[in-house]
Amino acid sequence: MPGPAEGADPLPGGGLVRFARSTLRVRVAAGGAVFCGWDGAEPEPSYALDGGCPDADTRAVIEPDKDGWRVVSERITVLVSRHGAVEFRTPGGLLLRRDLPPRWWDPVNTAEGAQPRWVQRSETAADAAVFGLGGRASGPRLGEGTYRLWNTDPGGAFEPQTDPLYITMPLQLVVADAGSHLVFHDNTWDGRVTLRDGEEGAGSGHDRPGGCETRMDGGPLRYWVIPGTPARILASWTALTGRPALPPRWALGYQHSRWGFGTAAEVRRVAAGYRERELPLSALHLDIDHYDGHRVFTVDRERFPDLPALAEELRGHGVRLVSIVDPAVKLEPGNAVHDSGVAAEAFVRDAQGDPVRGVVWPGDALFPDFTDPRVRTWWGGLYAERLTQGFAGVWHDMNEPVSFAAFGDTTLPRSARHALEGRGGDHREAHNVYGLTMARAGHEGLRELRPDSRPFLFSRSGWAGMQRYGGTWSGDVSTGWPGLRSSLSLVLGLGLCGVPYSGPDVGGFTGSPSPELYLRWFQMAAYFPFFRTHSAIDAGHREPWRFGPKVLEAAGAAMRERERLMPYLYTLAHTARRSGAPYVRPVWWGDPEDRKLRACGDAFLLGDALLVAPVLEQGATERAVRLPRGLWYDTVTGEAYQGPGQVLLPAPQERVPVLARAGAVVPVAEEDGTVTLEVWAPAPGRDGGGTLVTDAGDGWAEPRVERFTSRVSDGEVVVVREEHDEVGYRVRVRGAAF
Ligand code: GLC
Repeated sequence: MPGPAEGADPLPGGGLVRFARSTLRVRVAAGGAVFCGWDGAEPEPSYALDGGCPDADTRAVIEPDKDGWRVVSERITVLVSRHGAVEFRTPGGLLLRRDLPPRWWDPVNTAEGAQPRWVQRSETAADAAVFGLGGRASGPRLGEGTYRLWNTDPGGAFEPQTDPLYITMPLQLVVADAGSHLVFHDNTWDGRVTLRDGEEGAGSGHDRPGGCETRMDGGPLRYWVIPGTPARILASWTALTGRPALPPRWALGYQHSRWGFGTAAEVRRVAAGYRERELPLSALHLDIDHYDGHRVFTVDRERFPDLPALAEELRGHGVRLVSIVDPAVKLEPGNAVHDSGVAAEAFVRDAQGDPVRGVVWPGDALFPDFTDPRVRTWWGGLYAERLTQGFAGVWHDMNEPVSFAAFGDTTLPRSARHALEGRGGDHREAHNVYGLTMARAGHEGLRELRPDSRPFLFSRSGWAGMQRYGGTWSGDVSTGWPGLRSSLSLVLGLGLCGVPYSGPDVGGFTGSPSPELYLRWFQMAAYFPFFRTHSAIDAGHREPWRFGPKVLEAAGAAMRERERLMPYLYTLAHTARRSGAPYVRPVWWGDPEDRKLRACGDAFLLGDALLVAPVLEQGATERAVRLPRGLWYDTVTGEAYQGPGQVLLPAPQERVPVLARAGAVVPVAEEDGTVTLEVWAPAPGRDGGGTLVTDAGDGWAEPRVERFTSRVSDGEVVVVREEHDEVGYRVRVRGAAF
């Protein structure tokens, strides 16, 4: 333990508290995020931070307090006790979090020296609700239990109780009446977070605080705390770790994928199927079966004789091709990728200096060490081959990384050596950032190769900061109603971790969904940023016409509604880029103090304007929807409902309930491509508004941002464009509450 305090010295943004056996650096950064580093830990080097550590807030100074020291800043007060407990309080004095003095034990030895393990226990408010920790299937609100921090392919399809999954992050968003905060332990090692719910008025009328224990197998004890509203927290978090990459506009369209298209002819048939039924299709994804013997950066020329021609032909119909990219390179002298990797000394080695062998789809394989900047450059250059084949985007997979094994951990040995940007270390430290650094390599490679285009990249594994390079998807979600629920949990949870672009395998990865399940999945995902059907090689098909005429009709309606909402979705993509706010948000986003909303994980907000209530239960034709405060319209019936409260809405097979916030200005596309502003009548005496962001759909030019306000004047709904006399768009008024 740190032992008793001996004194404190001021430093920019706070100070250094000296304890008998340790030190604690407290540093408030401009923007309000607080860094705490024990034992000499500094903010850098870090895989999470983007562009280094932000400047210190020089107004924050350390000063003596009754039982220790305090650092007061605009948004948060940090109190350090003489025994090493650290409290974070709101400016009004309410407790957000109390970290008890940490403990270190049993150093583990590494080639670089001894690494102590450590544990930190913390307390939060009795009413605190916890979200985050990366992509978790059981959320979005994380229940009591232990969550491992080790990116893992569950090896087969996952269920809600499967944990951990492909993306773990030592990051929690804690929401409580006293205020919300984010805590991020900047440590890539294996670890475990144990959560315990608090209890109000427990026992003799005293609250029992919420509990959290973070246990790490090594690495620094350093963390960031960011207080504020959820919107402010995501803005600060993505300022710290990087704003989400902006996808090209086509990546917001509907996409279809399959492991096992088999041939170019089959790809053509599927594309034609969409065309003939006049269903919008933006991209088709080719899985590992289009490779030559599962070798990355190759093409099976028997089954895909002329991929560039196929790509061009599809492009003529508005359909892009996206390619899977797996990190493992077949161990095969003579194979160009293998040989160039060997020449570049690109592969992960063991302690003896021999390349680490694993087994993945192509058989025996080697693994690039993406924690080496040289290797990232080499790998990024290989994407030239994908571009030549005509691919418009990439899909990173198996990058936890996976190496098949009959038993034990299906990843690289912990002793495997990694460059870690020149610092050197082993797989215990590098494992969780393998997917993140691969994404960096791919993103930077694509930017270099095609500087005028925004890369489209999504990755199964990743870590804090991965949003800088692209998005993700659910991975192998099992087909079933529980899997449908997990899909929503993942999208919401990842959004709160700063990764806004994601979505599930619509219909589930395995087996064959019932027509009803398929349709409900489809209807929900039509409101997610990444909207893609995908399935395993031995699973049933996922084309919307495979489930009978009724499903086809309803799925078609969901697709058309998405197309109609495209200007709004695209604005949300830009909003995420500018502010870190995810497209898909929990219903408590604007009302974090509403506990009933905090408990509600079966609906979501799409931006500020819409509330989507997917049907997650078999046989349901209506569903209860909990509304945030304010007036809401059922977008189909036009019926108005006053929140907060719960309402029962019709949810026939043809559609899921979607509500619009009174006053919202939603930009929608007409069939001819022009934009109309759909305005939901403001509640009496209230204003509303909305935004429209437009650009060329790709490239880097500054977008055009237009802001609108709405109000009722003399019984009429009026929309005004900021800084303009004319509204500039057709306006359609919906709902009429006045
Ligand atoms: C993994 C991916 C899945 C893909 C399959 C074959 O299971 O998660 O999406 O289809 O590998 O590449």
